Amino acid sequence: MAEQTQHYDDMFAGLLEEVWGEGYLSPGGPEEVSRVLEGLDLKGKRTLDIGCGTGAITLSLAQDHGAAHSVGVDVEGHVCEEARARAAQAGAADRVEIIKVDEGPLPFDDASFDLVFSKDSIIHIADKEGLSRDIYRVLKPGGVFAASDWLTSHDGDMSPSMQRYVELEGLGFAMASPERYANAMKGAGFQDVRTVNRNPWYLGVARAELEFLAGDHRSELETKYGAQLVADNVAIWESMIAVLETGELCPHHLRGYKPR
Ligand SMILES: C[S@@+](CC[C@H](N)C(=O)[O-])C[C@H]1O[C@@H](n2cnc3c(N)ncnc32)[C@H](O)[C@@H]1O
Repeated sequence: MAEQTQHYDDMFAGLLEEVWGEGYLSPGGPEEVSRVLEGLDLKGKRTLDIGCGTGAITLSLAQDHGAAHSVGVDVEGHVCEEARARAAQAGAADRVEIIKVDEGPLPFDDASFDLVFSKDSIIHIADKEGLSRDIYRVLKPGGVFAASDWLTSHDGDMSPSMQRYVELEGLGFAMASPERYANAMKGAGFQDVRTVNRNPWYLGVARAELEFLAGDHRSELETKYGAQLVADNVAIWESMIAVLETGELCPHHLRGYKPR
């Protein structure tokens, strides 16, 4: 079967990791992961990380948060390889399993996990309702879905600024509103559904990230990744900050509980 389009190739993933930290293809590092998991006890639990990227978070769920078995899935083969190597290097290959999956239903039995986690990956999956039902299915009764994702303030037509941002990213974003996510989770059966807007936090962080990309480090980054890739990403960050400023781009934390 032909390999599907690679969005996060090695150079792009490498540049993102310069900005976001080794093994992270999304902002906020371990602190933001801990905030997504606030109040949850993962000790001895079986966890799934949807869209694990290069794997720092999947590893951290086992190493730092105490999960007994941490499974990460991703559609891109090369990020899975990197995630697997990271777990092996950390001596955690027995507790961290990375699986390359195809788009579509999760390849797991019903009631397989205590926690389903995801960090800024569901933006790539258009069918929020189908995914919510599938996450609910693979959770054990009493299980939790805890995630972060990049949402938009409204469904329907994007503003011209948002269109420009999404086009520049070129990552096949399928954004939806907090209402649509919440309804998808409630429709699947989740209880105590909550969505928390992280826009104010990320606006400040994104401005600092742009300073890192476009400021003193720029020539060093250009040497490693090429001037064009750095220039493309400076333009992406500028267009992203414009839609963070209007609030149209609004990363959120998501939480829902499967009843016992
Ligand atoms: C922004 S990155 C985040 C990676 C990781 N969660 C992190 O925070 O470092 C999004 C990831 O989602 C993956 N992805 C895209 N579509 C997916 C799908 N249908 N199922 C699983 N992963 C997917 C991408 O390949 C990419 O690695």
